[in-house]
Amino acid sequence: MRVGVLNGPKLDLLGRRDPKHYGTLRLGEIEALLRERATVRGVEIAFFQSNDEARLIDWVRRRSGDVDGWLVNAAALTHTSEPLREAMAEAGRPFVELHLSNVFAREPFRRTSLLADLAIGVIAGFKGNSYLLALDALVDHLKAVDEVR
Ligand code: DQA
Repeated sequence: MRVGVLNGPKLDLLGRRDPKHYGTLRLGEIEALLRERATVRGVEIAFFQSNDEARLIDWVRRRSGDVDGWLVNAAALTHTSEPLREAMAEAGRPFVELHLSNVFAREPFRRTSLLADLAIGVIAGFKGNSYLLALDALVDHLKAVDEVR
């Protein structure tokens, strides 16, 4: 089982960026923790970050044939990007939308998500741990679906 992990604009600045909302871990440290957890759960991780909407969409297209599900922290694009929404719909695999911060306890524009209604669920507010919680939720979902089949 393989999981694609999509990271949107400015998540490359984690560790230096607004630690009150985003915590102190760098994206590379979160990736390492996620890979450890993935090994325990018996899944492979494909991990990608870009500040460029087009590159994110291209990556989803490229990987959509070989991942079973996605973790998506689209960062600010969550609130604005119809093209990314369409790419996730076309990718046709289950995904969990995730955020480090509690987007519902911040500015009103962050409460809008163009992805959430397509997602199997949303995890927000647990800083770096959101990624690990999202991975567990996705893998549990994929395994449950597999058992029913
Ligand atoms: C974020 C929340 C977004 O509103 C924000 O633009 C980000 C990060 C989060 O992980 O909390 O860049 O997705």
